[in-house]
Amino acid sequence: VRSVFDPTALQAQMLALRASGKRIGFVPTMGLLHRGHTSLMKVARPLCDHLVVSIYVNPLQFGPGEDLDRYPRDPDGDAQKCRDAGVDTLFLPPDLYHPDHATHVNVSGLTGCLCGAHRPGHFEGVTTVVARLFGIIQPSLAVFGEKDFQQLAVIRRMTRDLAMPVEVLGAPLVRDEDGVALSSRNAFLTAEQRVRARTLHQALYAMRSANFKGETDRTRLLDLGRSCLDADAIDYLEILHPHTLEPLNPVTGPSRAFGAAHYGRTRLIDNISLSDDS
Ligand code: PAF
Repeated sequence: VRSVFDPTALQAQMLALRASGKRIGFVPTMGLLHRGHTSLMKVARPLCDHLVVSIYVNPLQFGPGEDLDRYPRDPDGDAQKCRDAGVDTLFLPPDLYHPDHATHVNVSGLTGCLCGAHRPGHFEGVTTVVARLFGIIQPSLAVFGEKDFQQLAVIRRMTRDLAMPVEVLGAPLVRDEDGVALSSRNAFLTAEQRVRARTLHQALYAMRSANFKGETDRTRLLDLGRSCLDADAIDYLEILHPHTLEPLNPVTGPSRAFGAAHYGRTRLIDNISLSDDS
């Protein structure tokens, strides 16, 4: 794997590759790579000629008081994982924005609920950096995890609305052995918090299992989820349509359960489908 640090140099290389007919695949990340990230690389690898992974902790998507300053990093481990996954180029920009950067991409509607409601400005930071990364890397396809299901929906909408010639693919969430969704932020959890963090996916699975058994009342399903969840604070538990992200009642047809909860200073998110076709 070849490391590139300079956005202008990378863009020139990628434009040349594209001009020679190569398909560029792209997996954007913020580092501390785990099996969730490598699963995205596995999806992209056979679909492209040249695979680029970026590692950039994007300040625009962190709010005041969030964990930008202590976001976990592991450059050597990350490089090894990219090598093992057959990545061609690792993009490691020390900085990505011009000092007078003034353009922000905002997707309305889809960003009003879930994490968008609890982290103001977060999705604008995500769409702005992803649009810029797409401009530099010129990918034919990009892969995002369903762990950040709302992010995936927002990025799909952005690429459609702005006619970006990038195919956006989603890849399933990956869980650890205890069921906790893989996340770089899991590194912050104490042993005691980690045990309680299991109740986040347990709450979602309880709602799913009740729904499968015929319970379609939104309030009763959410009450059930809340009764299972042991967290220091709950940002949300929700059941939404997987495409529109609008609340569902009764819970029938395509539907997805979402949760966000705090364990100490660490905020975790998770989601599962309540239907086969979401
Ligand atoms: O999902 C992430 O890690 C980030 O939001 C992304 C897509 C790399 C943008 O900074």
